[in-house]
Amino acid sequence: MPKDIVHIFDTTLRDGEQVPGCKLDTKNKLIIAEQLEALGVDVIEAGFPISSPGDFKSVVEISKLIKNTTVCGLTRAVKKDIDIAADALKYAKRPRIHTGIGTSPMHIKYKFNSDKDKIILRATEAVSYAKSKVEDIEFYAEDAGRTDNEFLAKICEAVIKAGATVLNIPDTTGYCLPEEYGSKIKFLKENVSGVDKVTLSCHCHNDLGLATANSISGALNGARQIECTINGIGERAGNTSLEEVVMIMRQHPNLNIDTAINSQLLNSISQLVSESMAMPVQPNKAIVGANAFSHSSGIHQDGVIKHRETYEIIDPKDVGVNESTILLTARSGRAALAYRAKIIGINLDKRQLDKVYKTFLTFADKNKEVSDKDIPEIVKKSNL
Ligand code: KIV
Ligand code: ZN
Repeated sequence: MPKDIVHIFDTTLRDGEQVPGCKLDTKNKLIIAEQLEALGVDVIEAGFPISSPGDFKSVVEISKLIKNTTVCGLTRAVKKDIDIAADALKYAKRPRIHTGIGTSPMHIKYKFNSDKDKIILRATEAVSYAKSKVEDIEFYAEDAGRTDNEFLAKICEAVIKAGATVLNIPDTTGYCLPEEYGSKIKFLKENVSGVDKVTLSCHCHNDLGLATANSISGALNGARQIECTINGIGERAGNTSLEEVVMIMRQHPNLNIDTAINSQLLNSISQLVSESMAMPVQPNKAIVGANAFSHSSGIHQDGVIKHRETYEIIDPKDVGVNESTILLTARSGRAALAYRAKIIGINLDKRQLDKVYKTFLTFADKNKEVSDKDIPEIVKKSNL
C-alpha cells in the first residue's frame, strides 16, 4: 500500500533562528536554505520579513535562490506585516504567507485584551487580505495547544472559508501530551467543515520533551504537515527535530506515513546548522548526536561487532554517518580491543589479547578514551 506523504515544513531559519544569541546572516541563511532544498523539505520558512531589514533581505534572497520548494514568510494578523511579507516573497516560485493570531484564553485576554469574536474577525480579515496577495495561505492558531477544541474548530472553519490552504495547530508552549495533541487533530478532522480541502499542520514545541511524540501523534491522527527544525533548535527548549520525525516514519513502515526527505543528508545538514549557529549538538541527541552510533560498553561492543543490529535500529549510512564507532574506554571488552587493533593492522591471538587487554585496562583507567595511535604503544608495553 502506498504510504501517505507528510510534508516537512522546515522553520530552522525562522523559529529555529529565534534561539537567543544565534542570529544568522543572509549569506549563512542562503547556504542552509540551499541544503534544505537538497534535503527534500517541502516548505522553507525563510523568516519574519517585517521583523528587521536583515530578515526581509534574507527572505528576498532565499526566494530568488530556491527552485522548487515553497518559500514561506511569517506575519502577524496585521496588514502591514502581510504587505511586507508579500513583497519579500515576490521572487518566490511558490510563495506562502503564514499568518495567524493567538487563540487561547491566555492570549486573547492578556496579549490582545480582546474576545473570541474579535479574534475570529481579525483572523479571517488577515487570511482574506493575504489571499489577495498570494494563493497559498497558512493560518496559525497560536497556543492552539491550550485552546479549547470547539473554539479552535470555529476559527479553523472561518479561516478555511476566507481562503486558508493550510491550518497550523501550534502547541506553542509545549504543553500537550501526545494523546491530547493527537485528539485535537482528530477533533478538527471530524468537526471542521471544509477540512478535507486543507492540510492540517503540527507545530510542536519541546518544553516537556514531547515535541517529536506530539508531532507524530498529530500525523497519526490526520495531520499531513509537520513543522520542525534541524537539530530541534528553537526558542526555550526548541522545536520538533526534523531528523527525529523523519526517521521515526522511516523506521516504522507500518505507520504508513513517510516524507520526501533524503535521509542520507541529515548528518551533514545537522553539522552545517550547528556550525553556522555556533550551537553544539548534544552528544546523545537522537540521530545526529556524536554518540548516536558509538558504542562504549563491552557487552554492547561485542554484540555490535558480531551483528550491528543487536544494538542499532538505524543503519548509520542511512543518515549519512559512515559507520558505527567502537570507542575504547575502560568499559570496553576484549572484542572491542581486538577489533580496533585489527583495523590498524595488529592481529592478536587469544594469548596475546589477554596480555594486551591487561595493559589496556591500566591505560584506559588513566585516560578517558584510548585512540588508535595509543594501541601500538599498549601492545609494546605488554611484552608479547
Ligand atoms: O509556536 C508558535 O506558535 C509559532 C507560530 C508563530 C507559528 O511559532
Ligand atoms: Zn513556534
